[in-house]
Amino acid sequence: MPVVPTREILDRAFSERYGVAAINVINDLSMEAVLAAAEELMAPVILQTSVKHVKMTGLDAMYAMWVAYTKDVRVPVALHLDHCPERDVISACLAKGWNSVLFDASKLSVEENQRQCIEVVAEARRYGADVEGEIEGFKRTEEMTGDEAQHVQSLETVVEFVRATGVDVFAPAIGNAHGTYKTAPHLDSQRVSDIVEATGKPVALHGGTGMSAEQFSDLIARGCAKVNISTALKIAYMKSGYDFMTEHPGDYDPPKLFAAQRAAVMEMAKYHIRLFGSEGKAW
Ligand code: 13P
Repeated sequence: MPVVPTREILDRAFSERYGVAAINVINDLSMEAVLAAAEELMAPVILQTSVKHVKMTGLDAMYAMWVAYTKDVRVPVALHLDHCPERDVISACLAKGWNSVLFDASKLSVEENQRQCIEVVAEARRYGADVEGEIEGFKRTEEMTGDEAQHVQSLETVVEFVRATGVDVFAPAIGNAHGTYKTAPHLDSQRVSDIVEATGKPVALHGGTGMSAEQFSDLIARGCAKVNISTALKIAYMKSGYDFMTEHPGDYDPPKLFAAQRAAVMEMAKYHIRLFGSEGKAW
């Protein structure tokens, strides 16, 4: 099973109520390792790229890696552009072949966000691509004040945004944040149920790193079909590199270091895939 539309992966997960790991990759090694983990567990998976890493690697190089690594892939996979406020980057990624984008206009008014998101959805459709939308934005965990779940738009506003734009998946703020939580986050899981019931669309769960197994299974059962993981990959990648050099001082043979990092990233990805219930769900 090759690269498929993001929506195909999410719609199945949504109707069967399992979660698909949407993992932010940072380079060739992490891209290959996450794909290998998904293949080992026969799980569908979404690989995400941040705007920063697309620019750092170069859009053409990033996409060439994706094509090379997914040429013979045996599980359904899709490539997604994470939080992107820049319309030119969205256009370039869609034209290149990314399967979906998150148009992040959360810093704009809801009206302007909605107006532009309608354009992004129309542009994506021309390429057979899908769109994730957000209107609230997410903090970094270190900026949390504890009352995040209260600062959200009304359900009516969310429903109207999803209806008017036709986004395929919506990313609500429910007390979640990006990074490493200092204490377990208080999540407004009922908001997920309300949005799913009112829109009939899957929800994207952001800030996955550090949530508990109970939180994941509850939120996935409520309709969080896309579960974003980024910080956990960075920790696995960096810490395994640090540990390797600490345990092997003076060993400057890069492939040995890379093997340790690949194993750590694979372990992290497999842990989340199992936790989200998508093991064995490849078709
Ligand atoms: P974490 O970095 O907290 O895992 O969040 C990932 C995310 O939501 C990416 O958009």
